[in-house]
Amino acid sequence: GLLIVDLGTQYAQLIARRLREAGTWCEIHPPARAMEAAAAMNLAGIVLSGGPASVYAEGAPEVPAGLLELGVPVLGICYGMQWMSRTLGGEVEGSGKREFGHTEIQRGEDSSALFAGIEGSTIVWMSHGDKVVKLPPGFHTVASSATCEHAAIGDDERRFYGVQFHPEVSHSVRGKEILANFVLDVCKLPGDWKAENIAEREIEKIKKLVGETGEVILGLSGGVDSAVAAVLVHRAIGDRLHCIFVDNGLLRKGERELVEHAFRDHVGLDLTTVDARKRFVDGLAGVTDPERKRKIIGNEFVEVFRVEAKRFQDARFLGQGTLYPDVIESVAVHGGNTAVIKSHHNVGGLPDDLDMELVEPLRELFKDEVREVGRYLGLDERILMRQPFPGPGLAVRIAGEITQERLDLLAEADAICTAEIEAAGAHKTLWQYFAVLLPVKSVGVMGDARTYENACALRIVESVDGMTADWGYLDHQLLRRISNRIINEVKGINRVVLDISSKPPATIEWE
Ligand code: XMP
Repeated sequence: GLLIVDLGTQYAQLIARRLREAGTWCEIHPPARAMEAAAAMNLAGIVLSGGPASVYAEGAPEVPAGLLELGVPVLGICYGMQWMSRTLGGEVEGSGKREFGHTEIQRGEDSSALFAGIEGSTIVWMSHGDKVVKLPPGFHTVASSATCEHAAIGDDERRFYGVQFHPEVSHSVRGKEILANFVLDVCKLPGDWKAENIAEREIEKIKKLVGETGEVILGLSGGVDSAVAAVLVHRAIGDRLHCIFVDNGLLRKGERELVEHAFRDHVGLDLTTVDARKRFVDGLAGVTDPERKRKIIGNEFVEVFRVEAKRFQDARFLGQGTLYPDVIESVAVHGGNTAVIKSHHNVGGLPDDLDMELVEPLRELFKDEVREVGRYLGLDERILMRQPFPGPGLAVRIAGEITQERLDLLAEADAICTAEIEAAGAHKTLWQYFAVLLPVKSVGVMGDARTYENACALRIVESVDGMTADWGYLDHQLLRRISNRIINEVKGINRVVLDISSKPPATIEWE
């Protein structure tokens, strides 16, 4: 596979996704662990990422020069290109003029494999201050922009390439192809990395880790990640997997039945449903602050899980649906100064003091790969294609205090919203679509009577990864149907409004 050396970029995961899309296995490591990682994997090539630093800056990431002596192709992106150029005898200069944003580059006359199929000019995404001003021996220019002569460079002999722009971001129109060229044409990888290999590999790993007699407990949330993790572990060890599903009373309508049906009846898992509805709703009584709600729910969950887990005295292992993005964030070389916007709660967020060994079969996978693996394993499409649902559930979709009555109202309204959108096939382009209860009362008229009831908002968003989002377009007839049905069928809601805020500055959930 390929090794991505993270030199402090915000795009390491994006690079990894693009390379995996091109059909190769890849791993992200910080420079300090790069040589070790390279030795441990079946290395076919290296990608040096971009980074915020100047190669001359104090504290600029120290990249082991040994990476250039392993005999495999290297692609340097932005900072990675500058480091490689300088290390191999070229020159890098602060260019005074920063180049930022959409930039046109022009392909030269060369025949480098990196740009195979890309002729003439194309738009790329630039973001740099420094640039390479003199090429190292053996290199030639592959493409140039108006302000950056060496926008892409290569040494076909050694198979070393550099790009000053960011091929991994979608603004670079042909970036995907450039990265695929690196995988297929430069590194000569077959591009055959797919779900089947991933699944079988993980099943073998679980068997080895858990052994002949080990038992695993796993918290199912109803979401894709824990579901696929459970099915993988089940394939590996069968009945020695015990799943726990906590009904916290904050679930969508029909959620519990769907989970029980899909996993108990269909997959045949040993599944325990814990009815903890009262406990959660009582715990939330009178609480209006969003962060406090989240904390309370997280703590209650851990307590419920702890009690249930005690029933499986012999289980030494805890299964979790941790994904690759959760893992690499903690490895990144740059300091984590990001402000806490919302404290996320996942079923995976169990405390260390459970004192169990972790089984995390999705630790190296991205979400789309998880879905593919689930599909290969024959998991119910309704589970696989579900929209993301936050751990704290409907509690963060009710502005203000949580009561049983409000939960029931929201569950009904949300079910109508979801059903209508799915029936119309409008969900295919949407990231999430749900209802939010606004306990703001307004006056209405039904028949001859005055009503004074709650409002609900429809939150319909498009997004690629949930980090940014735009409100999604729905056909007016469809909106009308949703609104009519909610107001007619849900007693307690007499007004439906549409949330047309993008993220940022709003967030997807209301709390
Ligand atoms: P926000 O509201 O921060 O949400 O724009 C971004 C995405 O994350 C989901 N979300 C959560 N997922 N636990 C989760 O597993 C949580 O606590 C949580 N809070 C928000 C949200 O649904 C959206 O997809």
